[in-house]
Amino acid sequence: MCGIVAYIGPKDATPFLLEGLQRLEYRGYDSAGVAVTGKGAGLKVRKTKGRVADLAAAVPARFKGSTGIGHTRWATHGEPSDANAHPHLDNAGRFAVVHNGIIENADQLRVRLTAEGAVFSSETDTEVLVHLIAAHSGEGVELEEAVRAALKLVVGTYGIAVVDAEQPDRIVVARNGSPIVLGLGEKEMFAASDVAALVRYTRQVVHLEDGELAVVRADGFRTFTEDARPTTRQPSTVDWEIDSYDTAGHAHFLIKEIHEQPSAVERTLSGRLDERFATAHLGGLNMDARELRDIRRVKIIGCGSAYYAGQMGAQLIEELARIPADSEPASEFRYRNPVIEADTLYVAVSQSGETYDTLAAVQEVKRKGGRVLGVVNTVGSAIARACDGGIYLHAGPEISVASTKAFTSTVVAFALLALHFGRINDLSPADGRRIVEGLKALPGQIREIVEKDKEIAELAAEYADCEGMMFIGRVRGYPVAREGAQKLKEISYVHAEAYPASELKHGPLALISPELPTVALVPDDELLDKNLTTLGEIRARAGRVLAIAHTAPDPKLATHTLLVPRNEPELDPLLLNIPLQLFAYHAAVALQRDVDKPRNLAKSVTVE
Ligand code: F6R
Repeated sequence: MCGIVAYIGPKDATPFLLEGLQRLEYRGYDSAGVAVTGKGAGLKVRKTKGRVADLAAAVPARFKGSTGIGHTRWATHGEPSDANAHPHLDNAGRFAVVHNGIIENADQLRVRLTAEGAVFSSETDTEVLVHLIAAHSGEGVELEEAVRAALKLVVGTYGIAVVDAEQPDRIVVARNGSPIVLGLGEKEMFAASDVAALVRYTRQVVHLEDGELAVVRADGFRTFTEDARPTTRQPSTVDWEIDSYDTAGHAHFLIKEIHEQPSAVERTLSGRLDERFATAHLGGLNMDARELRDIRRVKIIGCGSAYYAGQMGAQLIEELARIPADSEPASEFRYRNPVIEADTLYVAVSQSGETYDTLAAVQEVKRKGGRVLGVVNTVGSAIARACDGGIYLHAGPEISVASTKAFTSTVVAFALLALHFGRINDLSPADGRRIVEGLKALPGQIREIVEKDKEIAELAAEYADCEGMMFIGRVRGYPVAREGAQKLKEISYVHAEAYPASELKHGPLALISPELPTVALVPDDELLDKNLTTLGEIRARAGRVLAIAHTAPDPKLATHTLLVPRNEPELDPLLLNIPLQLFAYHAAVALQRDVDKPRNLAKSVTVE
C-alpha cells in the first residue's frame, strides 16, 4: 500500500527512483512523484496522477540530483490527483516528504499549523508532516532533529522519507507501523518500503523497527529511537532471487506466480517432512511436544485470502489433529474484545507480514498474554517479528496484487502444522504416512493442473461475459469456493458469490438462471452424492455448471467439467483451488482487465 524509494550517493538519483517506483507500483498505483536535491541545487519536484510511466514521461532530462525520494500512492485521504500525490513540500519549498500510513490527528494538526501560517495545498494527511518539520527547523537545527520533533506530535502510522534542500547530504527516514528498509551500497545508500525496489542494487539490507529513525548518508547510516537513543542494526542478506521481481517472459506476474506454485510448494515442504516418524519438523514453532499437547483450541486470524487459507488450515487441523479450530478475519477479531484463552493457540496468517489489521490482532492477543504463531511469507516482516514463533512459507516474493502462490503455500504450511499436531495427538503412523506421501505428490500434481492452462483459458472465455457467478463447495470445498469467488471478483470485476453447496436451497437457489453460472467443487469424497444432488437442482433451473472434479459427473449434471488429479481427501482442496486461479486469470484477460493491478486494490494493506 503505497511505495517509498530513496537514494543518496555519487550518481543521479532519478533513474533509481523511477525504476524503484516501477518495482513498487504493485503496492499502489493511482499517482506518483519524485523530489531530488543536491549541493546548492534547491529542490526539484515532479508529481502526477496516474502510473509511474506517466511520471517518467513528465520528468525532464535536466531533472537531476544526488539525493532523492519517490512515492507511488494508493489514495486514503483525498482523491488521486496531482496535488494529492507525494512528495509534499513546505511553503518555502525546502523540505519534501513521502509517507505511507495514516496520520490520525491530521485534522487537529492542520488547524494548528494553519493558525501558525502554513498554507496547505492538498487534502492529504501527509502534508501536515512536512509543515510540522518546517515548523521545527531553524538556524543550526539538523534535519533529523526537526523530523524527530515533528513525529513526537503525530498520532498514527508512518513510513517516511524526508529530504532538505539545505542539508542535501542526508535523507531522514522513520518507521512506525509501515515498513522502511535501508539498502547498503558502495559509497551510496538506498531506502525503500519494500526490498523489491532494492534487490537490483544491493542484497545488504537493514529493516527499521517501529519507533525508529535513521539518518542516511552516502557513506553509511545511523539509527536511533524517537527519544534520540542510538540503536544498533546489523545488516541482513536478502535471499530472494532477482528473477522473482520480473515477469520473465510471462504476460503478467499473476500467471507467472501461478506457474511458480510447484516450486513454491517444494520450498515450503523442503526439510520439513520426516518420513521415519511420518510427521513434520517445524523448528520455528518454538514449542515442544509437551506444550503442543496442552493446546485445546486453535484460532487462526488473517485478512482476505489469508483468512480463507486459514479456513482451509482450520479444517486440516480439526481433521488430522482433532483439535477444534476456526479462522476469523483479523480485521473483525481485533475490534470485538476477543476472549484470549491460555490453552488456545493463535495463528496469524499473512503473505506480506505487514497487513495492519492482522498485526493489530496479533498485538491484541499478545497484550492479553496469548501465544501467537505466524504463518508468514516475508522474512523479518512486522507480523513475523511480533509472533512467538511460526512457519515461513519460502514461497518467494509475490508481486501480483492477487495472492496465488502464497495462498497455496500457506495451506501447505497448515497441512504440515496439522500433521505435526496430529502425530503428537492421535493421528496414526499409517495416516501420518498417507499425508506425508500426499504432500510429496503435490508439486507434480499442481504442475499437471497448470499444464491445463489452455483448456481453462477456453472455459474462462466462455463464462467471462456472464452477469455473475456462484461458487459452491461442501465442508472442505467451501473455503475453496470462497477463495475462487474472491479471485474472480478482484481481478475480473465479475460479481461472484460463494456458498456452502448445502445452503443453496435455503435461499440463493432463487438466483440461479442461465445468466448466473455456478462453479461447483465436486471431489470424489464422502459427500460426492450430496454434491451431485445439488448439481441436479441447479441444472433443473437451467443454470450452467462448471464442475471441478476427480471424475466427470453425468453430462446432464454439468455443462463443463474440469478434471483435477486426486490426492488424499484432506489435501484435495489445495488442488481444487488451482484451476480456479487460472479461471479467474483468464476471465480477467478475456475482459481486458489490468490483471496485476486491479482497480481500487493494492498489495499489502498497511492501513486500517
Ligand atoms: C487477495 C489478496 C488479499 C490478501 C489480504 C491479506 O488475493 O491478496 O485478500 O490476502 O490483503 O494480505 P497478507 O496476506 O499480505 O496479510
